[in-house]
Amino acid sequence: MSDSAAAGAIAAPVDCHVERVTLVEHFTDRLFRFRTTRPASLRFRSGEFVMIGLPGGEKPVFRAYSIASPSWDDELEFFSIKVPGGPLTERLQRIAVGDEILIKKKPTGTLVLDALAPGRRLWMLSTGTGIAPFASLIRDPETYEKFDEVILTQSCRRVAELAYGENTVRDLVDDPLVGEIAAPRLTFYTTVTREPHPRSFRITDAIASGRLFADLGVPPLDPATDRVMICGSIEMTRDCRALCAAAGLDEGSNAKPAHFVVERAFVG
Ligand code: A2P
Repeated sequence: MSDSAAAGAIAAPVDCHVERVTLVEHFTDRLFRFRTTRPASLRFRSGEFVMIGLPGGEKPVFRAYSIASPSWDDELEFFSIKVPGGPLTERLQRIAVGDEILIKKKPTGTLVLDALAPGRRLWMLSTGTGIAPFASLIRDPETYEKFDEVILTQSCRRVAELAYGENTVRDLVDDPLVGEIAAPRLTFYTTVTREPHPRSFRITDAIASGRLFADLGVPPLDPATDRVMICGSIEMTRDCRALCAAAGLDEGSNAKPAHFVVERAFVG
């Protein structure tokens, strides 16, 4: 072995898959998505997250990323924020097709269908990159086998930040595999808080005022029919949890399915 090969030979951690980037798409100066090859042995439930990192350092930095692709997809997709100076995203935002990425072997998470008791209407409430686990779930036929109606909401600061969700929903409707079952059942409700928009408010305010239900022509949250998944910032998840509790919904988990589940959108 040459000296340079020996010097460059830092092995990937044993608990990681080493995969390759297959696509990178930037939406704004704060948001991008990327796709990677999928390890044949990686099994996950739509809505779960996994730790990802980049090779090359002595000790790679890992961050939790929701898998945005559905469990049947041949590839993996992630939707990421770019944090200036962030330990991972400062480098991650510069990845290109063909680059290597480290993916830890154990996916986990609470935003899974198994953590919800049976119901009629499924709400997915997200802000920013919190839409990622729902991009997985809305593309999973099992979601529509379990729920008659699926309502995905996303709030962002700016209109351009809605592009990932809008493209994903548009492509889903045209998808030969899931489009037919999803299109009649899925509604995408967006709000924008820091730019002019027809719905210029936080989702929490729209729930509290009843505007959300009036706009969609559905009754307010009811433990008999409604199930809720929540993913966003710490403040957003706290406020949505309180609104669910006020409507009489109980928080569920993998071990004890109930009416709503919560996961923080991860940043870093
Ligand atoms: P706002 O602009 O009023 O803060 P961020 O990029 O900071 O994570 O925010 C993404 C979106 O989440 C923004 O539209 C923001 O609204 C909204 N948001 C922030 N905090 C809350 C909260 N506690 N409840 C509901 N929405 C929130």
